[in-house]
Amino acid sequence: MTQRKTLLFIAHTPSPNLERLANAFIDGVTAAQCSNIDIRHSAPLTSNADELNTASAVVLLTPENLGYMSGAMKDWFDRIYYPCLDSQQGLPVAAIIKAGHDGTGTHKALSTITTGLRWRWVQAPLICKGEWQDSWLEDVHDLGSAMAVGLSEGMM
Ligand SMILES: Cc1cc2nc3c(=O)[nH]c(=O)nc-3n(C[C@H](O)[C@H](O)[C@H](O)COP(=O)(O)O)c2cc1C
Repeated sequence: MTQRKTLLFIAHTPSPNLERLANAFIDGVTAAQCSNIDIRHSAPLTSNADELNTASAVVLLTPENLGYMSGAMKDWFDRIYYPCLDSQQGLPVAAIIKAGHDGTGTHKALSTITTGLRWRWVQAPLICKGEWQDSWLEDVHDLGSAMAVGLSEGMM
């Protein structure tokens, strides 16, 4: 029997555009039709270490605010860091950063924290910055499908 795996999607979506990106990611996972993959969609403020410990991979969606990831996402890392430090080494991770004009501060912060956690990036973060582009929805949808298929087929 194929092993069931949970893809955890931690999404902070305080604006309609962030909601659109989150929905595109979930649609991408669903479109891949991987019967052994469960998508679990949580907000960072309500997610915790127990939930992360159920995950076989994690994808993060955060805005860049004041040169950093959102405070909610940072709070999530603060709470999961030590409880998951040993249990989730090697966890496949990907991220979507929604930025008004930059995104580099958030990218750097995510790199630093996930290096400490010894997580494994499956691809560089998608940085959606500047004027809204509909092509981001396709990129994020494709990321969702790729994560689902990669996890389903044991490629990550
Ligand atoms: C308080 C605040 C601080 C922000 N700081 C940054 C920033 O440092 N760099 C950046 O690229 N965008 C910044 N932004 C823009 C947000 O990243 C952007 O509003 C967010 O991604 C949501 O996108 P939307 O406004 O298109 O819905 C900031 C927005 C707010 C409200």
